[in-house]
Amino acid sequence: MQVLVAGGAGYIGSHAVYQLIRAGHGVIVYDNLSTGQREAVHPEARFVQADIRDQTALETVFAQEAAAGRPVEVAMHFAAKLIVPESLTQPLAYYQNNVEGLRTMLAAMVERGVPNIVFSSTAAVYGEPISPVCLEDSPTLPINPYGETKLACERMIRWVCAAHGMNYAIFRYFNVAGADSSLQIGLNKDQLTHLIPLIMQSALGLRERLEIYGNDYDTPDGTCIRDYIHVSDLAQAHVLGAEYLTQNKGSLLANLGSGHGYSVSEVVAAAERMFSFKWGFAPRRAGDPAKLTADISRARELLGWQPQLSLEQMLRSDYDYRRKISEG
Ligand SMILES: NC(=O)c1ccc[n+]([C@@H]2O[C@H](COP(=O)([O-])OP(=O)(O)OC[C@H]3O[C@@H](n4cnc5c(N)ncnc54)[C@H](O)[C@@H]3O)[C@@H](O)[C@H]2O)c1
Repeated sequence: MQVLVAGGAGYIGSHAVYQLIRAGHGVIVYDNLSTGQREAVHPEARFVQADIRDQTALETVFAQEAAAGRPVEVAMHFAAKLIVPESLTQPLAYYQNNVEGLRTMLAAMVERGVPNIVFSSTAAVYGEPISPVCLEDSPTLPINPYGETKLACERMIRWVCAAHGMNYAIFRYFNVAGADSSLQIGLNKDQLTHLIPLIMQSALGLRERLEIYGNDYDTPDGTCIRDYIHVSDLAQAHVLGAEYLTQNKGSLLANLGSGHGYSVSEVVAAAERMFSFKWGFAPRRAGDPAKLTADISRARELLGWQPQLSLEQMLRSDYDYRRKISEG
């Protein structure tokens, strides 16, 4: 199977590329390198530096691949802006890149007959959930422009696929962490609103102490409970999703998490067994629900997918990759 991976030089996209190549598939990475890195592109992938908002460039790649006898069967879309606070101050940039970018990519796919799309969505589409366990048919009420653009993209995909006889796999990710076992790729930018990057900064001595926001939530230890998924497990679901589409099994929308909740204190305790760092409690942050986890039974049933990697493996690989990068 030949797959075009838009955003394949970024954190999650590069892991999907590694897993696709390990599974024997052909890959074209298409990325404007706005936040991604050339070094993260697998050496066996063809690399095109271009923007998904450039329809002519995208169509040229689809046409070249078809002319070479290996037409693109699946396009994966990871190419988005994703920083929530930035989306609140620059909403138009988010609509431009995320929504207009997807519109252009779908237009190129329709024009060149590329039949399947795999799309990265997010738990942010659920907003502040009314139930602690999110199912795919839970209400979608995003509370920031980032989540809104992703929900608009999901809807666009459904309408376009229905109109043009295409199929989709839309995945809503929960908290993603960790690095590939090769340590060739990983997360080397900081999403400093996320727990695991904050722990890593503290463990690597880049931050004086980790702050835990609130210990008076209605949970067994008083700290918030979240669902963490290893990026390699997430990437594997994309390989299975692409194969599902090319086997003509239809379209799907599925949550991707571990299906297991860890409290902030549990994650910190697991990290403390491996690294040393200082931490302390701070007041609650606005808008943090007490408990938020994924129901992943749909991905399990439809794809035969099961997360394999533990919280400890997530923390260890994330740390090892960051240390490798910081040591040059
Ligand atoms: N990282 C997370 O925790 C998380 C959680 C939920 C959903 N997601 C989604 O997963 C996807 C990938 O996230 P990531 O963490 O790997 O981000 P990332 O910033 O590391 O990767 C995004 C990649 O897309 C490229 N890109 C962005 N806009 C582009 C454009 N217009 N044209 C071409 N290339 C473009 C960037 O250069 C980068 O390589 C995003 O769609 C994001 O919304 C991520």
